[in-house]
Amino acid sequence: MERLLIRRPWDMHVHFRQGEVLDGLVRETARYCAGALVMPNTSPPILTYEDALEYEFRIKNVANRAGYQHFKPLMALKLAQNTSEQTIWRAASSINSIVKAVKLYPRGVTTNTSDGVSAPLEKNLQKVYAAMQEVGMVLSIHCEDPNADVFAAEEQYLPVVGLLTHLFPDLRIVLEHVSTRAAVEFVQQSGPNVAATITAHHMRFNRNHLLKDGLRPHLYCKPILKTENDRQAVHAAAVSGNPTFFLGSDSAPHPKNAKETSCCAAGVFTAPILIPLLAESFEDARMLDRLEGFASIYGPQFYGIVPRQSAALLTLVRETEQIPHPRSSEAAVLPLAGESLRWRIQY
Ligand code: NCD
Ligand code: ZN
Repeated sequence: MERLLIRRPWDMHVHFRQGEVLDGLVRETARYCAGALVMPNTSPPILTYEDALEYEFRIKNVANRAGYQHFKPLMALKLAQNTSEQTIWRAASSINSIVKAVKLYPRGVTTNTSDGVSAPLEKNLQKVYAAMQEVGMVLSIHCEDPNADVFAAEEQYLPVVGLLTHLFPDLRIVLEHVSTRAAVEFVQQSGPNVAATITAHHMRFNRNHLLKDGLRPHLYCKPILKTENDRQAVHAAAVSGNPTFFLGSDSAPHPKNAKETSCCAAGVFTAPILIPLLAESFEDARMLDRLEGFASIYGPQFYGIVPRQSAALLTLVRETEQIPHPRSSEAAVLPLAGESLRWRIQY
């Protein structure tokens, strides 16, 4: 049997939500990840250090109770139009601060962002970025113009990011879930302070998978899947070994009834099949040896996380496994449910 051993992955963009679903979602990721950057677009949102502390405590508790003491949740604050620089100083002042990033969601661009940012270059926010630059906090950006055509939205927001890199050259910036050739090239042409996360679904699927031969709501997400040309650029960046491209699954579950309805929520739930999906994409490119860098090393490196000496390994075996259907009508549905993957994690 073929085996592949990699250091435990870090998922640098994941949604754990709030309320009853949180426990199951934390366990799903903590099972195979060394750590993860947890997104703050919860309801209620994570706006302050105190919010983040409470949320982190809850996540750690679930992981510990499930026997995943190794799991390190990293927290992000959601940037609001009126966030002040004091919020940053406060979040950074604690020893070993758990807040590693601040997330900029353009207002209304995706799930739970009606309180997002409408004027990203306003004075008070420039003070926020300056403080982040000083304390070494990462600015994580959902790079889409909420007023643009959905297929052009990512590319049209790049000039805003360009301005930010110009004004704050030492600020570390992550373009989340890049989906276009334009965004990939933007990152390649920027210096080492600009990176991007890449999802398993944007590596693997294009808009035909979403829209041709029937509409597939479980592949509908923000940013929307793009052309085959874009997918190829995203895939090539992920397998390139360039450390400014790393894993952020954007696993974003919604209940089955919120996806299979007349107005489908945006988000693809991949956490339970994430690593096997990635292994297939890397294997297809004959680049399996680069999976570990992408999934386990470059992300924490960019965020300045010092790896534990005895970082545990994850064993993948090349064995066909069927992707399960959801257990209940409330549970989230996995893309490709009923189909098979060539790799599985051996626990
Ligand atoms: C995410 C969600 O549901 O929270 N949805 C998505 O389509 N990716 C939010 C986000 O990351 O855009
Ligand atoms: Zn997301």
